[in-house]
Amino acid sequence: MTELDARTLQFTNDGQLRHLLTLDGIDRATLTALLDESDAYLSADGEAVERSSALQGRTVANLFFEPSTRTRASFDLAAKRLGADVLNLDVNTSSRKKGESILDTIYTLEAMGVDIMVVRDASAGVPAYIARHVKDHVSILNAGEAEVSHPTQGLLDVLTMRHHKPDLDSLVVAIVGDIRHSRVARSAAQALSTLGANEVRLVSPAAMAPNPADFPGAVITDDLQRGLKDADVVMALRIQRERIGNLDGIPGIDEYFVQYGVNEDSIQLAKADAIVMHPGPMNRGIEIEGSLADGARSVITEQVKNGVAVRMAVLTRVIRTLESR
Ligand code: CP
Repeated sequence: MTELDARTLQFTNDGQLRHLLTLDGIDRATLTALLDESDAYLSADGEAVERSSALQGRTVANLFFEPSTRTRASFDLAAKRLGADVLNLDVNTSSRKKGESILDTIYTLEAMGVDIMVVRDASAGVPAYIARHVKDHVSILNAGEAEVSHPTQGLLDVLTMRHHKPDLDSLVVAIVGDIRHSRVARSAAQALSTLGANEVRLVSPAAMAPNPADFPGAVITDDLQRGLKDADVVMALRIQRERIGNLDGIPGIDEYFVQYGVNEDSIQLAKADAIVMHPGPMNRGIEIEGSLADGARSVITEQVKNGVAVRMAVLTRVIRTLESR
């Protein structure tokens, strides 16, 4: 299954977003509308959360075949705040463990009236594969696919940037860490490119550098100083050890923190008002210094909060598409 398949597959014949499989190929107007709709679902800290009945009578199933805290919890909350019934399948006790195929699991859930399936899987192509096989009235949302795509994370990241740096045309974003294995970096870069960000810099040791073809237009460098210089946004990424077969060429933890850590020293290279981001889960003292993650520049908890609003916007959008068919 190629990225092109996923791009085509996620739209109906008349161009409505039915599945969310990748941000690649979603136009600027649609991305902007999703961000605007996400803003409408945000409430001030301490106030009652926004709710709607957009998914009343609908069922959302969370199928996470890889670990998750943020994405799974926020899809759960988002669906409940929209009035849906939510099924969190325990994959460790599901019949997939007994050899049931992924499609038999999907057909079983379809038969129970599940309308939207939220899928995370370690293998590339699984969300699109499922999307190809579900009935016309079912939608698939990609909640993290191998190193390929994490579209709702990309949306929440650019929403957070937009809150602090609304002039995306002049925005310089430095993403630092294990770019090669990062679905977060891919989805963020796709959204930033479509929204017209000035520059995306990808900073990593050579052993974690991406294929340039995956990041058209981005600046790829192994030089942290060059990468962070005058950046508006600095996003640190975790080393994705679960996706790295061979650790050759990857610095040890202490060396990595000195050479590629987003820390109190290296952040001085960025603009004085630069914000610090991390998609989580964080490894403090490796890719990010704890004091910086907790400090005044950090918007990490805002990313988490925005994630619920983004998922509410996406769920609302796809159910609208399903209901219009
Ligand atoms: N950012 C992110 O995907 O976090 P989780 O793995 O906790 O869902």
